Amino acid sequence: MHANLKPLYQPVARFLASRKLHLSKSLQFDSSFKQELGYNLDFVRYTTLELCYKELIRNNVKGNVAELGVYKGEFAKRLNQLFPGRKLYLFDTFEGFHQNDISAEKQNHFSSGEQDFSDTSVELVLGKMKYPKNCIVKKGYFPGSAAGVDDRFCFVSLDADLYEPLLSGLQFFYPRLENKGYIFVHDFNNDLYKGARQAVVEFCSLNNISYLPIPDGCGTAIITK
Ligand SMILES: C[S@@+](CC[C@H](N)C(=O)[O-])C[C@H]1O[C@@H](n2cnc3c(N)ncnc32)[C@H](O)[C@@H]1O
Repeated sequence: MHANLKPLYQPVARFLASRKLHLSKSLQFDSSFKQELGYNLDFVRYTTLELCYKELIRNNVKGNVAELGVYKGEFAKRLNQLFPGRKLYLFDTFEGFHQNDISAEKQNHFSSGEQDFSDTSVELVLGKMKYPKNCIVKKGYFPGSAAGVDDRFCFVSLDADLYEPLLSGLQFFYPRLENKGYIFVHDFNNDLYKGARQAVVEFCSLNNISYLPIPDGCGTAIITK
């Protein structure tokens, strides 16, 4: 940080912290780090994605990319930019949560299931993509929407919020994950969606898999192979 900015930094950082926003140094000693994001409020999530991407390239990990829980495609847009040579599977109802999952959430006291994600469409999402031809849209209820998908993956984002689809997502994608690939499970440390933690803990305990929690906006857990 520039010496002239130091007196400014502390009060600004303190003020932001009181509003649950944290000023942080960027990745300053990695000269290959581009971060073409510009302004982005979830620095940790997007930067961790970029670092994992670099590991995948360094390790020559093959396989395609997928997201379960796309909504308006903000994270998917970044995946599509980062992986221009790979297919990007987009799994979502594009109509919000399914009633079966909502009932299970309520019964288990995981979440209210009331958040509305229906204000989106396949066209809206594809319109944001730099390489729309790489996208394979799987519209419908997951895991049913994965029927017939016979592929391998290097990176998977599981962001369906709810216990049932997240557990199904782990069961479907983990066996299809390439060695040294990554699965990001969003909401692992999110009290509003307790089913996310439950799905990860249950799946990982059963299969003797470790995970790493990171302090991004909704507390992602990262699984690797
Ligand atoms: C939090 S949003 C995803 C946000 C998105 N990843 C982003 O970065 O903006 C959760 C999405 O999961 C989808 N979803 C939840 N359960 C699903 C299921 N069983 N099958 C398909 N999509 C589901 C919802 O429709 C919703 O769009």
